[in-house]
Amino acid sequence: MPHTSKLNLKEILSSARRQGWAVPHFNISDIAMLRGLVEAANELRAPILVGTSEGESDFLGRRQAVALVSAFREEHNLPIFINADHCHSVSTAKAAVDAGYDSVHIDLSKLPLDDNIAGTKKIVAYARAKNTDISVEGEVGYLVTDSSQVYKRAIAVPVESLAKVEDAKRFIKETGVDRLAPAVGTLHGIAANAPRIDIERVQAISKALGNTILVLHGGSGAPDEQIRKAIAAGIANIHFSTDIRLAYVAALREFIMEHPEETTPYKILAPAVEAVRLKAMEKIKLMGAAGRLS
Ligand code: G3H
Ligand code: ZN
Repeated sequence: MPHTSKLNLKEILSSARRQGWAVPHFNISDIAMLRGLVEAANELRAPILVGTSEGESDFLGRRQAVALVSAFREEHNLPIFINADHCHSVSTAKAAVDAGYDSVHIDLSKLPLDDNIAGTKKIVAYARAKNTDISVEGEVGYLVTDSSQVYKRAIAVPVESLAKVEDAKRFIKETGVDRLAPAVGTLHGIAANAPRIDIERVQAISKALGNTILVLHGGSGAPDEQIRKAIAAGIANIHFSTDIRLAYVAALREFIMEHPEETTPYKILAPAVEAVRLKAMEKIKLMGAAGRLS
């Protein structure tokens, strides 16, 4: 794959699916996180997808987030894309499309399947009418936690929360999304117990859906071996947020404790950028995304 910002996200995701690796997705809250991610992607010659949840989008500003990512993309001539992550309503997903996001994740997974399909279809039509390059992601089954944080308790993932193959098939047929996030055993955040990804379910969904790109949410806390198996079973895009947040906050906290007199924000944030860079490099390598650009 050539090393160029002109590459299109859909082509990169298809290459990942064909070649058996996954496009990394990392969430950002600010430019320090984004800078660390871009440095990691640049150093490892990897394409990445940067995400902003509804809260992160509100904090950063949607147009501002798009402008930041596109400035880094052009400066480094790297395929870095921005996804509006977990839009829980048709209106926030439309706002992301209007702001120029490369990708939108409409997540109506907590609704009954019929309503999920109906809302997702609206976004597919809206995005296609604006720009056929926009990749649209939908979600079937649901993750039992919403927030990317550390939970001190063990959290069970009930089987009824997982995506059913038949529902996934129907969802793809009726909505025409480019990517599907099926719930397969992970959760958002890190719980006291390790998650168990249902690899057989991933395989069955992958087999049933042909070329649809499968997305794994809730990567943090999953053992590396399970991540590798999930990719081998057909996952081509993986989200990590809590692990990146933890790296950022630990470095920031340590610096402030050790240098209580420092008042220059960019100096205070420098170790956090470095911690994000290192953690992102680890995950990029785990997903087999390193060296995918010439
Ligand atoms: O959409 C965001 C992700 O699914 C992140 O999940 O915080 O468990 O890595 P995580
Ligand atoms: Zn997620």
